Amino acid sequence: MAKWLDTAVFYEIYPQSFQDTNADGIGDFQGIIRRLDYIKELGCDAIWINPCFKSPFGDAGYDVADYYTVAPRYGTNEDLKQLFQEAHARDMHVLLDLVPGHTSTEHPWFKESMKVEKNEYTDRYIWTDNIWEAPDDMASLRGISARDGSCALNFFSCQPALNYGFYERTRPWQQAPGDPGPQATLAEMKNIMRFWLGLGCDGFRVDMAHSLVKNDPESKGTIALWQDVRAFLDREFPEAVLVSEWGEPDKSLRGGFHMDFLLHFGPSHYNDLFRCEEPFFSSRGKGDASAFVKKYLENRRKAGEDGMICIPSGNHDMDRLARSLHGDELKIAFAFLLSMPGAPFVYYGDEIGMRYVEGLASVEGGYNRTGSRSPMQWDGTPNAGFSAAAPEQLYIPQDPGADRPTAEEQMSREGSLWREVQKLISVRRKNPALGNKGSIRFVRAEENGYPLAYIRESGEQSILVILNPGREEAELPMEAAGQIRESVYRFGGEVKADRERNRYLVPGQSTGFYLL
Ligand code: NOJ
Ligand code: CA
Repeated sequence: MAKWLDTAVFYEIYPQSFQDTNADGIGDFQGIIRRLDYIKELGCDAIWINPCFKSPFGDAGYDVADYYTVAPRYGTNEDLKQLFQEAHARDMHVLLDLVPGHTSTEHPWFKESMKVEKNEYTDRYIWTDNIWEAPDDMASLRGISARDGSCALNFFSCQPALNYGFYERTRPWQQAPGDPGPQATLAEMKNIMRFWLGLGCDGFRVDMAHSLVKNDPESKGTIALWQDVRAFLDREFPEAVLVSEWGEPDKSLRGGFHMDFLLHFGPSHYNDLFRCEEPFFSSRGKGDASAFVKKYLENRRKAGEDGMICIPSGNHDMDRLARSLHGDELKIAFAFLLSMPGAPFVYYGDEIGMRYVEGLASVEGGYNRTGSRSPMQWDGTPNAGFSAAAPEQLYIPQDPGADRPTAEEQMSREGSLWREVQKLISVRRKNPALGNKGSIRFVRAEENGYPLAYIRESGEQSILVILNPGREEAELPMEAAGQIRESVYRFGGEVKADRERNRYLVPGQSTGFYLL
């Protein structure tokens, strides 16, 4: 099993927007290679790259047209292979984004599948057996070719669902997961993994991993499918890592995933902390972390101590963290993200508080997500050092603010967000209790209450984490928290012990990690 995961801190790269090296206004693999040292200096030692394969880019590359060839705009397969090697030379690891649930309508498989004559790809997608019947509970493409049937969609209209079968079958066109069509789809996905793992990638973030087997209310069919994939990997690539976009770690981890993301949609209450009217991490101090904690603990119980639930700072699908949090609020939010169990994921630019760019027209199926996908701001040169193209040629317009943050400025300034994130990652690495595995026990997570406090433990080491993002001083009962010794990290004022009243007084807008 990939030992490196125990200490990994990830950095998510949206390749379009990271670093352009040939002045075409769009990021590329050579740009990522050029910036590996930057990522390493921040403290991250693993990266996840959003889909970088041939695609008409109706959904920013989540509509793949050829799984075996990278999109020419990013470079060649050789460039990507070089990226794997350059990363490994720095003790870093690279996950690609696997999109197994659907392809683009431009994929040659789909074009074959649309034909009336039976062929190898007739059953690669989910088709009903006549045009007048739509697949239940799924949107579909209808009347697009002479084939008599409706084709199920998995997401946008340009993303037809690949066929992995139906767990419960009520219609004749619904195939079983073990039938030849679904089995051929799965075999092909394994080939795709084999291909990229063979070139040197370290594993995959799996898009919509929960979505493969249809009519599968308890996900039993999809879990069995992933167990089969894991068995294949264990035979051929035992070190290969899988992280799922699923949001139900009890299921995904049973399916053999090492880690599952905490999602910003569904029941996780993740947005209560960062992205709602009164986020817990806002200095207004009107937020509520209790529902998040309750759900998180429920999931951890199901996932087990070692099951990793990964909490991202953001991603390409949600608003930038800096849209709702500002200044020191961001530092305290990162203190939380970098002291929780599970491998942390930093979304490119969040380490400098890159802002959501308001009012942009949708680019490549981004819609409201476009503002979170603008090009990285490196320095004070034109286009913030992202590209030598004319500004109007950039993939997405950049933050027009004269005060837009840049990596260069923040790296050189004591007390910047970048420096704080760097410090937090290094504190996490030095203290085993704060690691990706290690346990967590909440000592304070009251409804509408501040501070939030928890104890992380591993072996001999116990660390109490106290987070008080609100402006007001808050109290923490001493008994539950334990006797604090020295701090391994502190931001803002110092916690005072009020022994008479058996409590700690926690200054507003402060956080500290204390050895117990
Ligand atoms: C989740 C991805 O993160 C998102 O960007 C994409 O649009 C959908 N899956 C569909 O693949
Ligand atoms: Ca380029």
